[in-house]
Amino acid sequence: MPDTLRVALVGAAGRVAAPCHLHAWRMVDRGELVAVCDVDKSAITRISDGWAINKTFIDYEALLADPGIDAVDIVTPPFLHAEMTIAATAAGKHVYVEKPMARSAGETRAMIDAAAAAGVTLMVGESYVFQGSHMMARELIDAGEIGDVLHVRQTKGPWVMRPDELERLEGKGHFTPWRTDPELSGGGPFPWLMDHGAHFFATARYLAADEPIDTVSTLAVDMTGTRGGAGGEARQDSVFSVSWRYANPALDGLWTRVTGPPEASEFIGFRTEVFGERGMIRVFGEGGGAPAGREQPPPVTLIAGGNIRTFDPDDGEDRAWLSNVNYYDRAHANALQHFTDSVLDSTAPRYGGGDGAADIAATLASIKSAIDGAPVRVADLPLDWTAYGA
Ligand SMILES: NC(=O)c1ccc[n+]([C@@H]2O[C@H](COP(=O)([O-])OP(=O)(O)OC[C@H]3O[C@@H](n4cnc5c(N)ncnc54)[C@H](O)[C@@H]3O)[C@@H](O)[C@H]2O)c1
Repeated sequence: MPDTLRVALVGAAGRVAAPCHLHAWRMVDRGELVAVCDVDKSAITRISDGWAINKTFIDYEALLADPGIDAVDIVTPPFLHAEMTIAATAAGKHVYVEKPMARSAGETRAMIDAAAAAGVTLMVGESYVFQGSHMMARELIDAGEIGDVLHVRQTKGPWVMRPDELERLEGKGHFTPWRTDPELSGGGPFPWLMDHGAHFFATARYLAADEPIDTVSTLAVDMTGTRGGAGGEARQDSVFSVSWRYANPALDGLWTRVTGPPEASEFIGFRTEVFGERGMIRVFGEGGGAPAGREQPPPVTLIAGGNIRTFDPDDGEDRAWLSNVNYYDRAHANALQHFTDSVLDSTAPRYGGGDGAADIAATLASIKSAIDGAPVRVADLPLDWTAYGA
């Protein structure tokens, strides 16, 4: 293995993940972005010129045949994750693949098996568990500051984009056709849940000392036809809450959505409260903080033993969201640094294929629960179950 990991970014002309990976690779030690690949020919030329990356590919197979590339960083839509990962492992490349890892438990199994058979590293891009504030909260939990974790409560408030990011996205936000397509997103009638469930469940396990999720129950209502049609992104509004039990019956968790005008909200973005035997931690995640113009809360607050202590990872401002924590570029840089170190040092990555698969299984269970209107045990989900085939 060379001293530097030579990486190709696949899906490099994308609108959301690609820009933050392009920024993030510049912050990574021992890892270098040497090639960019996208089927959008004119856009990929613009990216390679703008970021001074010499090698460009529009054909993924040609990229995989290049011996000057050690690893692929896959930021294409979810319907391509399994086939691209499996092809890369067969070519002997290490793989970092964005969340959601895949669209079925069977696909995640095949990806893990392919990487194991090829002897390459497989890591899933789950930025929530590499965000400074979340890692700081986990350190406090591991240090026993709140005792055993009993309950994890997550709230998704309004996400507020920075004006320059809104402008860059030409007013379209994160909308791309695959994101709302039942099959391409993998989420069937609940594509938004597929897009974000992996984030929420990854955080829920991470802040509960990696306790597995056992049973999931989703409260949702079918708003087909009234909120933009089947699979419309507006259908995030049809998911009110997701609750779950962990394998350890002493623990449980809850995700709820609180949408409202930011200026009428106490907090914006994603936040998690972790309740333990002796205390609690409040941590802000993606887009989290107070609305603009108000005093920002600390990224992490610990209440224990009658004292309130606050913590700040001091990781700069977020490029995409009005947020108290640098979610986009810094969290991705942390994750990509970890991937680079794992490959070069031959160590198992912290969020490998098994973690990605666990959070896809919980996400699929949450979608099945929304469809069935009943709780679903994660272990009962068949390997070949897909939300779009339901
Ligand atoms: N971790 C995070 O915070 C985060 C944030 C945003 C997106 N994501 C994930 O990143 C992935 C991409 O999301 P996005 O919103 O950036 O998507 P996007 O649609 O903006 O970009 C995808 C890119 O892939 C390219 N592409 C499609 N097929 C290709 C092929 N065969 N070969 C090469 N390139 C191909 C497209 O042309 C496009 O440029 C998704 O899985 C999404 O869930 C993660």
